[in-house]
Amino acid sequence: MEEKKKYARTLVTTALPYANGPVHIGHLAGVYVPADIYVRYLLLKGEDVIMIGGSDEHGVPITIKAQKEGVTPQDIVDRYHKIIKDSMEGLGISFDIYGRTTSQTHRKTASEFFKKLYDKGEFIEKTSMQFYDEEADQWLADRYITGTCPHCGNEGAYGDQCEACGTSLNATDLINPKSAITGNVPVLKETKHWYMPLDKWEPRLRQWILEEHKEWKTNVYGQCKSWLDAGLQPRAVTRDLDWGIPVPIEGAEGKVLYVWFDAPIGYISNTIDLLPNDWEKYWKAPDSRIIHFIGKDNIVFHCLIFPAMLMAEDTYQQPDNVPANEFLNLEDDKISTSRNWAVWLHEYLEDFPGKQDVLRYVLTANAPETKDNNFTWKDFQDRNNNELVAILGNFVNRAVVLTNKYFDGVIPEAHELTDYDQQTINEFKDVKDELSKALETFHFRAALAEAMKLARIGNKYLADTEPWKLAKTDMTRVETIMNIALQITANLAIAFEPFLPFSAEKLRKMINLERADWNKLGSIDILKAGDRVETPVLLFEKIDDETIKAQTDRLERIKQENILKNFTPKAVAPTVSFDDFQKLDIRVGKVLACEKVKKADKLLKFTIDDGMKGRTIVSGIAKFYNPEDLVGKEVCFIANFATRTLKGIESQGMILSAEDADGRLVVIGPHGEVRPGVQVG
Ligand code: MF3
Ligand code: ZN
Repeated sequence: MEEKKKYARTLVTTALPYANGPVHIGHLAGVYVPADIYVRYLLLKGEDVIMIGGSDEHGVPITIKAQKEGVTPQDIVDRYHKIIKDSMEGLGISFDIYGRTTSQTHRKTASEFFKKLYDKGEFIEKTSMQFYDEEADQWLADRYITGTCPHCGNEGAYGDQCEACGTSLNATDLINPKSAITGNVPVLKETKHWYMPLDKWEPRLRQWILEEHKEWKTNVYGQCKSWLDAGLQPRAVTRDLDWGIPVPIEGAEGKVLYVWFDAPIGYISNTIDLLPNDWEKYWKAPDSRIIHFIGKDNIVFHCLIFPAMLMAEDTYQQPDNVPANEFLNLEDDKISTSRNWAVWLHEYLEDFPGKQDVLRYVLTANAPETKDNNFTWKDFQDRNNNELVAILGNFVNRAVVLTNKYFDGVIPEAHELTDYDQQTINEFKDVKDELSKALETFHFRAALAEAMKLARIGNKYLADTEPWKLAKTDMTRVETIMNIALQITANLAIAFEPFLPFSAEKLRKMINLERADWNKLGSIDILKAGDRVETPVLLFEKIDDETIKAQTDRLERIKQENILKNFTPKAVAPTVSFDDFQKLDIRVGKVLACEKVKKADKLLKFTIDDGMKGRTIVSGIAKFYNPEDLVGKEVCFIANFATRTLKGIESQGMILSAEDADGRLVVIGPHGEVRPGVQVG
């Protein structure tokens, strides 16, 4: 299958991550790893492609972070831009440029873009009411206002969203709004802003996406369709804020471009910085194509708003495709920068030196292409040990070791092929077409599985032909087998280059394959008989349980910290009278004996001195105490609690305990000495 090439060059962009935190596995699986695979694939085919990335350095979350830390927004973005840039490089993401939206070029480009639209009359001006903090003398972005959620009563809701019930809000919806800067009650003041009339572009967007791009991924097409069907509204593209690119017109002092107006223009500015003389052809020539790699929360901006901006500007091309991915979860929980619930790339690279490809492999195998997916450390370990080590690494190692052993490292000649040889070769002769088809349609998981299939074929071939047994009797046959095994190895070096570039390079060096040539994929004449292979190096090594436990322990600690940090006491229960209270007979007792209840992992059986004849109480706190530690302690219990039988034991009361925010139960007792049996009240 030779696909018809309708384009001369490709511009690949990757969403610009906010420089308010490092990048994590969710960013990688959704955007950077698939984009990198795609770019490496095009490069292997010898195509003209550039990959543009950079940091998104404006926006309110950055100013909030700066304020919390008592530093400037510039300090924040300088710090994270460096971490992000270095870690992406560490993972082998092949950016041609990784720029930033605080650059001079970007400021100029975005500013001029706005000015052009303004001069063409493409904006509408509107005034609206917005909150203002008079003491701080500052406009308040929605995130800077807190108050009570009108839906669930959460008192810490933000002006744009209540995180307790998930509802999106307008700041003016909040009950008792407060400024997050001074805590004062903000005032509503009139302010003027510029809006993109998206409604004006709706018919063209509709035609362009819904009619002309039916081939887009269904998740992308579907989201666009539902936005379009709901009807597009004008969107403000300026903000009252002091961090951002100043609105370049008179009467707009103190206003900046909305971050989502300037950020996508960052793709253009970064292309300009990369190719000052040549950039325009990537954006404007009809034989160029543009592909935006993004996560699903960015779809509306890349498919509707930015395209509308480009339509208004009128000299740029629209993207050819926007292969947005869904989200990756971590251990079944949503990844979150603010909750520190993530595996951070820069930390991974420190904890797992030389194992970039393991992460690339696992994230591709679990890519959230059609629905949200999940990363677990257990799966990471399994895929490394059972797939990379046991299949790919094992095969390559065998092929190279045996060549060294039997032929002193010289690639033997293939003689007459058996039916089985032919059958094996047939099994992978279409690998190039299969892989190309999957990669060109952005099915990276399927593509990776296809490449892995090749390694399985190789493994099976050696296991079935058993050259180590034939070596005593039929060296001619061994020569053929090892030639085929090495040709498969060479195929692997090509096929895996987009996915596992570090290992593919090691592998190429091992077999002295100078250049990976995509066109050779599927053939058995990649390596020449008589050439040499080197001594083998291990491509992958097993990851042990201890290493994995260190990671899961870290996550467990973060989970506990978050629970404690976010604790808010429950609402107080309805009032009770003194009479109601007196119905409970609460007493102090002394623990005489305490033991685990058999076949019940939660239960402890207590023998309590109650000042009378003693009693037995079963309590569900076994997870939190060693029974021996409780013996001799004084506890409070309800003496007139209806008896219950638990695991065959009659429980005559209830021991009082407090449940902490993390679910831990702590037994309650008196803080001074009292006689067993006295009442509490
Ligand atoms: N910073 C945005 C995010 O993390 C993505 C911006 S993509 C852009 O969601 F390039 F268009 F800016
Ligand atoms: Zn709420």
